[in-house]
Amino acid sequence: MDENIIQKKTIFSGIQPSGDLTLGSYLGAIKNWVELSDMYNCYYCIVDMHAITVRQNPTELRRRTIAQLAQYIACGLDPDKNTIFIQSHVSAHAELAWILNCYTMFGELSRMTQFKDKSAKNADNINAGLFTYPALMAADILLYQTDLVPVGEDQKQHVEICRDIAVRFNGVYGDVFKMPEPYIPKVGARIMSLTSPENKMSKSDKDPGGCIYIMQNPDDIMRCFKRAVTDSETFVCYNTSTKPGISNLMQIYSAATGESFEEIEKEFCGKGYGEFKTKVGEAVVEMLRPIREEAERLIADKSYLESVYKKGAEKAALTANKTLRKVYKKVGFVEK
Ligand code: TYM
Repeated sequence: MDENIIQKKTIFSGIQPSGDLTLGSYLGAIKNWVELSDMYNCYYCIVDMHAITVRQNPTELRRRTIAQLAQYIACGLDPDKNTIFIQSHVSAHAELAWILNCYTMFGELSRMTQFKDKSAKNADNINAGLFTYPALMAADILLYQTDLVPVGEDQKQHVEICRDIAVRFNGVYGDVFKMPEPYIPKVGARIMSLTSPENKMSKSDKDPGGCIYIMQNPDDIMRCFKRAVTDSETFVCYNTSTKPGISNLMQIYSAATGESFEEIEKEFCGKGYGEFKTKVGEAVVEMLRPIREEAERLIADKSYLESVYKKGAEKAALTANKTLRKVYKKVGFVEK
């Protein structure tokens, strides 16, 4: 194996194919994955097993899983340099998740904000998988002896419970798992809905105008930005409590252009909200255009995508199974 890979620190992260990829997941997660990918040994996963904690249409789930792979590559993740794979293709994830379930407490799972939110939204399907979701996420991360987990702000609590589970397990059996750290971007960690900026931009958003998708066409993107909720004042200034809509647009503009908040305030001083919203929309359209075009090309090349996810799963399984064997031995399972 390449010596560089051995010496590099490890990254693991994933996104659920439970909806089409959003601007939120791009700015909160994928953009950082691309920036970090040269410096780390990276595993980027499409977490389809997490997605079924909420009911999915099987045909749509399959379509989105493959489309998400194309979008990962189109965003700049080189499959020759990064291990890109589908979670359900590496059975070690499910196997370790079961074991970690036995080291995860009912009380700590009950405190998870995502569980509370999702069970409120899916009151007719509060299943055990939704509740024990963080144990599967901990398995994802710990299988690869991960150092860093680049995620948006909303996933911080899940990385923290993963660390608690690892500490508990290591406390009983010695140093089995490496302790992972969350990596949250300074700008873009929490992109809000364009129509209700007090809520996170989310692929499950009921209001179609609130969420921007990576594959959305430019006219629709511009329409959403022009309709974005602002406030009754007239100046562009960053203040999340009094100006949530404008502050969210500033976050997006800053992440898309690299400009600081001070520079943005100066650029739009004396100009109206209409002009600002148009500029933010244009910046997003130009940022997403090459990604969308490349993803469309890749989605048409099914055999290439298949070769990527097969190779990715093989590579991931090598590392994952090594950790799993160690765990099996530690807990007292008889060797096969
Ligand atoms: P998911 O699929 O909800 O979101 C994927 C990633 O995108 C980030 N994100 C956002 N960041 C900023 N603003 C937003 N509006 C926004 N919406 C989403 C999320 O923080 C996340 O980084 N449980 C995870 C998936 C997962 C995972 C893992 C992540 C499963 N196993 C192991 C890391 C490591 C989730 O539901 O993300």
